[in-house]
Amino acid sequence: MLNKIKIWKNQNNSSTLRDKIEGIKKLPVPEHVAIIMDGNGRWAKKRALPRIAGHHEGMKVVRKTTMLANDLGLKVLTLYAFSTENWKRPKNEVDYIMKLPEEFLGTFLPELVANNVQVKMMGYKHQLPKHTLNAIEKAMEQTKNNTGLVLNFALNYGSRAEILDAVKQVLNDYNSGILKETDLNEEAFSSYLMTSNFKDPDLLIRTSGEIRLSNFMLWQLAYSEFWFTDVLWPDFSEDHLLEAIEVFQKRQRRFGGI
Ligand code: FPP
Repeated sequence: MLNKIKIWKNQNNSSTLRDKIEGIKKLPVPEHVAIIMDGNGRWAKKRALPRIAGHHEGMKVVRKTTMLANDLGLKVLTLYAFSTENWKRPKNEVDYIMKLPEEFLGTFLPELVANNVQVKMMGYKHQLPKHTLNAIEKAMEQTKNNTGLVLNFALNYGSRAEILDAVKQVLNDYNSGILKETDLNEEAFSSYLMTSNFKDPDLLIRTSGEIRLSNFMLWQLAYSEFWFTDVLWPDFSEDHLLEAIEVFQKRQRRFGGI
């Protein structure tokens, strides 16, 4: 375990990368970064590999990105790993993606623990295979007292369903007298969403050249800064994350003001 932790630190310690990280840390970094990790299939196709090879490579990038996010002092990193619509994919691909949390956490959980990362998940748990959910719940349990980066996997997540469910809970609470109409404002509504414990994302990143949200955090991204890149997720490097954050640091956020 120690060896792995060392390798990890060394990766972020190459002198140019270290200098860039230190430079970026001089300015405020986004507290919450959300990423739509796209392009795994195309990455594999370009190499005449099966699509699942792209997902496997993408999993390795999850590790690097998590480490750097933690190093930079981000509070939350939300990764869109599987949407409520992704069940439409071929069974072998779905089965493979559902095995990735086990592989990822089976290999890297000790590193996440050692680096004070807290694992969380948002999405519909009941449809997930038992083995997938067990791996995630075990990781959540083992990291629940950690105080560093929250690594939040969006797994079987869909924003419209999330909002609709929130509306149903609001109606329930209204009907049972727990909630008054006058108490329902944006902040109160947010507390019914799966992200109730998190600040909204400051920065959204999407890889692979697609410029759309694909049912991801539609309420929460209302005032986020967006950064799109043509880079396919398996090719997404530490430099790309740093570039996105540098761009974010130059943006003027007005939240509707002037
Ligand atoms: C989108 O690319 C990617 C996914 C639907 C899966 C993302 C999963 C990972 C990156 C690994 C997750 C790792 C863990 C630990 C859960 P695509 O397949 O739609 O790519 P394409 O648009 O090129 O076909």
